[in-house]
Amino acid sequence: MRPSQKTAFTRLHEQAGMTFEEAVAFLAVSERTAQRYQSGEREPTRLGLRMLKQAAAKRCAPIETGRPAFRFIDLFAGIGGLRMGFETIGGRCVFTSEWDLHSQKTYAMNFPDNHPIAGDIREFSKEPGTIPEHDVLLAGFPCQPFSIAGVSKKNSLGRPHGFLCDTQGTLFFDTAQIIAHHKPAAFLLENVKNLEGHDGGRTFATIMNVLKNELGYHVQHRVISSEPWVPQKRQRVFIVGFREPNDFDLKSLKLPLPENGPKLGSILLPPDQVDPKYTLTPKLWQYLQDYKKKHNAAGNGFGFSLFGPNDVTRTLSARYYKDGSEVLIDQPGQRPRRLTPQECARLMGFERPGRPFRIPVSDTQAYRQFGNAVVVPVVEFVAAAMRPYIEASLAKQAARPAPQAYVRERAEPIAAHG
Ligand SMILES: C[S@@+](CC[C@H](N)C(=O)[O-])C[C@H]1O[C@@H](n2cnc3c(N)ncnc32)[C@H](O)[C@@H]1O
Repeated sequence: MRPSQKTAFTRLHEQAGMTFEEAVAFLAVSERTAQRYQSGEREPTRLGLRMLKQAAAKRCAPIETGRPAFRFIDLFAGIGGLRMGFETIGGRCVFTSEWDLHSQKTYAMNFPDNHPIAGDIREFSKEPGTIPEHDVLLAGFPCQPFSIAGVSKKNSLGRPHGFLCDTQGTLFFDTAQIIAHHKPAAFLLENVKNLEGHDGGRTFATIMNVLKNELGYHVQHRVISSEPWVPQKRQRVFIVGFREPNDFDLKSLKLPLPENGPKLGSILLPPDQVDPKYTLTPKLWQYLQDYKKKHNAAGNGFGFSLFGPNDVTRTLSARYYKDGSEVLIDQPGQRPRRLTPQECARLMGFERPGRPFRIPVSDTQAYRQFGNAVVVPVVEFVAAAMRPYIEASLAKQAARPAPQAYVRERAEPIAAHG
């Protein structure tokens, strides 16, 4: 069901941060009745709707009444890893795009909102004016090759060309179109480390060329590994751009030391809280051992990896649901197990003491979502470093005389939330 087609019951219980089962208990109705509310076959009672509205409003309150330092949009949002980092520094999310329905479900459950989740970004980049004004753009866009053979030829002929022909048909192109239209004060793009070497470095070079030379931004990038913050080695490239020149220096930011980072034991659940279903079946365990033996004999290091409480894991991948082989938890005296989805939420920094993360989807979907996500404290770190520059840019913009129409457009949201 698309968010716009959600019934009031579904929208409100999600905004209230309740699962379907919790909403059933909250309204004290039968599951069958709630299913009718969910499908739209029947309307909840007026009292039921009021209760849900109150619960949703209560959960939304900190966002609604807070004083956002700036507004941002969350593209290719997944389950909101980038958003979490920028909410931590006081930003307010005004637009979200994520087309995967399972990710939307997790996102909606964890970010009670006043805006529905938009689907395919290509529908919006065609008309970027339909996206609300914002100060910061966030995007963990999927990495796709650009067919730039034609462009190189044009380059060699010294002809000018635009990102329209460099990157058309890719999701980076859609992101660039939105930046070109809205000219946000700053952006943060995030991707796998391999983006730098993708297609012999041509993909990255094209991206940087578009951002710097065609969109006119002051752009820097840095690969950051997550070990200082979570017990997982996960390297991601962060690309930061500012519209105005400033002293922001991504490369010189001092990262906490990885050797002082947390160890796996800090995120593992006590053994008695782990469902036995996460322990590998004898058949799968045998298969993984045989596979590793075969590859070791052939002289390569493919195969499962086993970790204990004093370790830091390999990168959790989106294929973790298949066999869990990249991060298996040692259980002395018995077969190893996979991480539970909740442990994945902790390993990615989505959940930490005092901040639970809701997982309303199947284990398979949850593993896929966490495996695709960013490590939240890494984003918080980059966001915190960007914050003074974002604010300075907005202050400068506010002080600058602007055309009347521009002042009117900006004045309303700032007055409402500032
Ligand atoms: C690498 S993940 C981003 C994960 C996110 N940073 C997080 O922390 O969860 C990329 C996301 O882009 C979404 N996506 C891919 N193509 C899309 C499109 N055309 N429109 C909207 N979302 C899209 C995918 O479903 C996926 O969730």
